[in-house]
Amino acid sequence: MTDLINAILNRASQPRLTSPGPGRELLNQALACAARAPDHALLRPWRFLVIEGEGLDALGEVFASAVDDPREPLDADREKLRSMPRRAPMIIVGICSPKAHPKVPEVEQVMSAAAGLGYLLLALESAGFGAMWRTGSVAHHPAVREGLGLDAGERIAGFIYVGSVTTPKPAVPRPRPDELVSNWPA
Ligand SMILES: Cc1cc2nc3c(=O)[nH]c(=O)nc-3n(C[C@H](O)[C@H](O)[C@H](O)COP(=O)(O)O)c2cc1C
Repeated sequence: MTDLINAILNRASQPRLTSPGPGRELLNQALACAARAPDHALLRPWRFLVIEGEGLDALGEVFASAVDDPREPLDADREKLRSMPRRAPMIIVGICSPKAHPKVPEVEQVMSAAAGLGYLLLALESAGFGAMWRTGSVAHHPAVREGLGLDAGERIAGFIYVGSVTTPKPAVPRPRPDELVSNWPA
C-alpha cells in the first residue's frame, strides 16, 4: 500500500476544530494541491478565499444577513448562522468559476472544483490538520454569494473548515468496494 492510499483510506472529516490552523507555507502547498485537479481544457474554473480571525465574524454577519434577505428569506436561526464560522480557526471557500467553452460544459467545471477540494482536504489532513467540507443552505443563498464577492456565474463549491482536531470523530462505516462496483458487461 502506498502512503497516499493509506492516507486516503484513513482520512475522516473532523467537525470539532480549534486553533491553530495551518501556517502559510502548508496552506499554500494545500492550495497548490487543489489547483492540481483534473481540468478539462485547462480552464482553471476555480478560485479560493481564505478567511481567518475577524474575517470569520464578517462571514457570520454575511450568513446572518440571509435571514432578512427579501429575495429569499432564509428560515434559520440568525444567531446560529452568525456563530457558525467560528467552528474553526480558518475557512477556505472553494468557488467554482465556470468559463464559457464549446467543449467543456459547466458540470465538468463544477466537478473539477470538487476534485480540487478533495485534494485540499487530503493535503491538510495528511499534514495533521482536521478539516470538514460544509455547504448548507447558506452556500447557495444570493446574499452569501454577493457578500463574498462572487460574480453572477460563480458558485460556492464548499466551505472547508480547517484547524486542529479537538476530539476525533467516531469512526464512520465505510462502504466496501464490492457494494459499489460491478463488471460491465456482467
Ligand atoms: C459538497 C458537500 C457538502 C457538504 N456539506 C455538509 C454540510 O453542510 N454539513 C455536514 O455536516 N456535512 C457536509 N458534508 C459532508 C461532510 O463533509 C463529510 O464528508 C461527511 O460528514 C462524511 O464524513 P467523512 O468525510 O469522514 O466520510 C458535505 C460534503 C460535500 C461533498
